[in-house]
Amino acid sequence: MARLDPHSYFDDTQARVRALDWHVTVDFDRRVLRGSAALHFVTPTAAPGPLDLDTRDLRIHAVATLDGRPVAFSLDPADPVLGARLRLDVPAEAAGVRLTYETSPDASALQWLTPRQTDGGRHPFLFSQCQAIHARSVLPVQDTPRVRITYTAEVFVPAPLRVLMAAAFDGREVRGEVAIERWHMPQPIPPYLFAFAVGELESRELGPRSRVWAEPGVVERAAAEFADVDAMLLAAEGLFGPYPWDRFDVLTMPPSFPYGGMENPRLTFVTPTLLAGDRSLVNVVAHELAHSWTGNLVTNADAEHFWLNEGFTVYAERRIQERLEGFEITALHAALGRAALDEAIAEFGDQPALTHLRTHLWEVDPDQAYSVVPYEKGYLFLVTLEAHLGRPAFDALLRRYIETFGFQSITTDDFTAFMQQHAPGALAAVHAKAWIDGPGVPENAPAPRSLRLDRLRALGATLPEPAVAAAWTPAEWQLYLQGLLDAAAAAPCEALDARWRLTDSRNYEVLVAWLELGLRAGYAPAVDRTVAVLGEVGRMKYLKPLYRALSAHPETKAVARATFERNAAGYHPIARQVIAGLLGVAP
Ligand code: BES
Ligand code: ZN
Repeated sequence: MARLDPHSYFDDTQARVRALDWHVTVDFDRRVLRGSAALHFVTPTAAPGPLDLDTRDLRIHAVATLDGRPVAFSLDPADPVLGARLRLDVPAEAAGVRLTYETSPDASALQWLTPRQTDGGRHPFLFSQCQAIHARSVLPVQDTPRVRITYTAEVFVPAPLRVLMAAAFDGREVRGEVAIERWHMPQPIPPYLFAFAVGELESRELGPRSRVWAEPGVVERAAAEFADVDAMLLAAEGLFGPYPWDRFDVLTMPPSFPYGGMENPRLTFVTPTLLAGDRSLVNVVAHELAHSWTGNLVTNADAEHFWLNEGFTVYAERRIQERLEGFEITALHAALGRAALDEAIAEFGDQPALTHLRTHLWEVDPDQAYSVVPYEKGYLFLVTLEAHLGRPAFDALLRRYIETFGFQSITTDDFTAFMQQHAPGALAAVHAKAWIDGPGVPENAPAPRSLRLDRLRALGATLPEPAVAAAWTPAEWQLYLQGLLDAAAAAPCEALDARWRLTDSRNYEVLVAWLELGLRAGYAPAVDRTVAVLGEVGRMKYLKPLYRALSAHPETKAVARATFERNAAGYHPIARQVIAGLLGVAP
């Protein structure tokens, strides 16, 4: 064998890293991390030979073996998707290597925020987002989920700031103007789960195993929104077995965080757009929690098998949600998922291969291939299997899957072999081949059904009775508004806004569905509110449809470009890249 992962230079015939000691200084003036990474091998090298590491925009100052012998190295020109291969000539009998290096101000995993981009406005903020292949812009590493590492970290920051890592806290020491924080990660993780944040941060307890972190001005609201996290943990353990990561803390990020949530182990990162004030968006926390089993414990071997992470996790998320909020609410979320899936499949019209569960991503940037397909098609596939086997048998199978593959990285073939062994015939019965290696949604997909969905469907594009809509959950509003968007008839935007003040909605899911509808219908107040939203949040789930809706209309196409130009510097590097691609402009 040699290279296995389309997105890494990792070569399984070379030394394999098992542990990392990371020492860095966070330099907010220059926007770089500077320090060293010591990489420990699984076994000392028997003979001299090359070791290929992934890097992106790193400056390598020096490399030596752990016992101090200098190591020659060469950095290749950067590949646009993978970054630059760093080849080390490692001598025999080396237990590992130490690299001194610094990151670039443009590191794709890092966002450096000015004080003005934070809630408090007084201190800068820095955070990482390594999934899928950005860890290599923070440190030289075998950046593939096939390699798992434990680590220790020592991080030097300005004394007013705190460091948080997706790891266990070992202590903080203040030396004059500088604070040193020490962390360690005892459980082996794939590099995409390496994560940290630096800023003015405070916490509130949520339960015996969890607390929420946020900037001081946000932390009370976050504690109220996430008060049910402890109940969520217990529900999840009831379904999937003991929680394997000791703590489940939640960090509420600044608004430019590009995702809804990121399952960094022990410390999930979430967007502040979840703070709707009514706990209606906490399914995102359930989702990140569910990754503790499906993703962080049983990990996709590379991005071609991403559905094993996300499809299983959406399934697990909805099982947790069903326990806590019941079947009806969960069915609404499943219906939203199905609508998003159908839309994504339509968008991939000219690239149907990206609607397979198993994808082929050599030379393809995973950030560009990202969509809801692995999430919602994966979810539907598992629901189909569940329906075939019956829930008790499927639950037992899921637990066995987690036990069998815990702390391993697996491919779709590992999954199918497991199924053949433990539920012979099931894959064939549900036409698994069509799900895994075929386009779109196979016909045997179950449709979400529930009382509340039936009522919404009966309403169609007519205006709801005030007493009916007053009782709607945000998910029902979203479904109703999306139904209007799909209906050919002119939407009654004025009447809806006058009665329900949708342009002022504090729930971003509802607001964005509303703005998409308003922009399509040419409802003037939607334009200003959209432009404002595009300046206040950086979550790609909202940026993408809003920029797309603005640029779809000849009258607002120029607004889209001007808005992007004004806000691009404040977006996360990944979001900037993705939106620039969508608008056809320079990032
Ligand atoms: N792991 C993902 C986020 C991610 C995926 C980041 C790929 C980078 C590359 C996370 O668990 C996720 O799926 N977040 C969703 C939440 C959801 C489906 C409830 C999101 O961000 O919207
Ligand atoms: Zn996920």
